[in-house]
Amino acid sequence: MANRISDELIDRIREANDIVDVISEHVQLKRAGGNFKGLCPFHQEKTPSFNVNPARQIYHCFGCGVGGNAITFLMEYEKIGFVDALRELAHRAGIALPDRRSERIDAEDDPAVVANQMALAFYRSCLEGDAGTEARNYVKKRALGSDVMSAFAIGYAPAGWDNLLKAARRKGVADSALVSAGLVVERDGGGFYDRFRERLIFPLLSSGNRPVGFGGRSLGDQEPKYLNSPETHLYRKSYYLYGLSQARQAIRLSREAILVEGYMDLLSLHQAGFHNVVASAGTALTDEQARTIAKYADKVFIAYDGDKAGISAATRAAETLVQLGLKVRVAAFPGGEDPDSYVRQAGADALREVLTSSQDFIDFYVSLNPTDDSDDREKAARNLIETVVGIEDSLKAELMLEKISTALSLRPAAVARVYERRRAERQLRGRGAQRLRGRAREHAPGSVGGNGRQTAGPDASPGSTGRQDEGVGGYETAGAHYIAQKGLLGLLLAGGEGAERVRSCLEASDLTHPEIRMLAERILAGPASEDPIDIAALVDPRDDRSLAVLLTELTVLDPVERDGGRLCDDYIGVIRKAQIEGQIRDVDKEIRAAELTGDEERATEAIIRRQELAQLLSGLSSDR
Ligand code: UTP
Ligand code: MN
Repeated sequence: MANRISDELIDRIREANDIVDVISEHVQLKRAGGNFKGLCPFHQEKTPSFNVNPARQIYHCFGCGVGGNAITFLMEYEKIGFVDALRELAHRAGIALPDRRSERIDAEDDPAVVANQMALAFYRSCLEGDAGTEARNYVKKRALGSDVMSAFAIGYAPAGWDNLLKAARRKGVADSALVSAGLVVERDGGGFYDRFRERLIFPLLSSGNRPVGFGGRSLGDQEPKYLNSPETHLYRKSYYLYGLSQARQAIRLSREAILVEGYMDLLSLHQAGFHNVVASAGTALTDEQARTIAKYADKVFIAYDGDKAGISAATRAAETLVQLGLKVRVAAFPGGEDPDSYVRQAGADALREVLTSSQDFIDFYVSLNPTDDSDDREKAARNLIETVVGIEDSLKAELMLEKISTALSLRPAAVARVYERRRAERQLRGRGAQRLRGRAREHAPGSVGGNGRQTAGPDASPGSTGRQDEGVGGYETAGAHYIAQKGLLGLLLAGGEGAERVRSCLEASDLTHPEIRMLAERILAGPASEDPIDIAALVDPRDDRSLAVLLTELTVLDPVERDGGRLCDDYIGVIRKAQIEGQIRDVDKEIRAAELTGDEERATEAIIRRQELAQLLSGLSSDR
């Protein structure tokens, strides 16, 4: 793999191009203090909110939120890819780049990516080869046509323990690369074996169409029915949406998405002409996945299985999506059907009919829950209002409240009153903190870490089920908790005394906002330094755009003062408080559950724990 574009070369190209010069070729910039300002080229505006910071070599628009370094600027401005932008900047600075022919593989300087690509090609060829007869029969039985098979690069992992392993060795792909991609599993006694054996393979493609992982379905009754790649640095389950790379364009154009549970549902729908389908595949819909959908769609049709589990998963997904301000429709399939079986049996028109007649969130909820007497109506109203409380957009919230009062025959004023009170309580408690489950750490006096963890319950793992306010990384972009997390990241970026302090008392896992946490992980993994971090180098154009936006927003105006020690302590205080509050909510649930089941011992234990936590919390507040 000669001639690849190394990170050093990328850095050299970046450093050889001053961002002010690069952007000035396209945008008229005026000096404003230490920065330059101009009219943003990415949205319509009359007064300049587009800032370029020469010291940090980044840009950020406060109007539309774009931001990045010189490379991402060219990518966005000229609508070109990473390598092309790099090529242009190299040319500008008179730096030679390796030639274009080898660049497709060269851009992949990550061994896990190379391993995944090799595996994808291998699985594809196995499906076509002699070993693939049984799999091809299975494909026929599931009625998957050749178009959809190639659009989704479906393959087959043959029976046997080391087919991939051997093929990789023949191609010069190191065992360690297979390990880092999660393609092989380490044997107890040393050595490795193939993770996927005798399974139909669904490659999990990234937005750049690279395989980041795989899902595999057994051809028969072998358990588990579906096996997925483990979480790796390429495959982040809570962020990943299956089928997005094939569906993005169709969703963007129609502003509508169909959300399904499984690989097969997605493929069948795609084959039936529904190209705007994504699947959460293997996890309950997370906040992060929902946010990704919200980037492209205004309206989501939830098409989950018609069974009991499907209906309750659909309810949770609907709540998550509604809170992001999306229009939600829930499609109902007859009892034992899922979208795959339904469309195969009833056809595309029938499915279209099911989607057209699907219910909005409130009607769906009301149809599932009894509303016969006033107690039922009260309970339904409170639950629905609880979801509306999470909607940021007040106009959308208002319209939902109106619907709730109509659907449940309640006076609008009564509904509004409950909503206002819940909303105020939520704001009072710190909006960011409210949804977060945390664990108190050794910094809190009289550590409660161990107990706290127990109360978190089995649904605490990422990607598992759970209401949005219980966690799966739920977060908001307002409130003290978010500001504290952002502030801590700002301190880390600024370097100096503040950064040192943050390093000494914070772990990345304390941060619950997924993007802030990811950036903190990157920074904390590097060496501590007196100097501000090289922001432009932290912006990787291959990341999700929102990372760059967050980074540049934090630093373009250099607002962080050098007296970081105190700031750090204040922010940490907010984080610890949120963690303890999360634990208290868990314990409250525990207490309710224990009381409900009449388990007095468990209830007493939990009540004592709650008192300890409350004490901790008041200790924290009085310290500050
Ligand atoms: P389902 O059990 O509903 O399967 O799981 P399905 O989609 O109807 O699949 P077929 O029709 O039997 O082939 C839905 C999704 O949940 C995940 C998979 O992503 C699957 O597509 N899943 C299911 C797993 O990850 N592991 C499992 O063992 C089962
Ligand atoms: Mn199915």
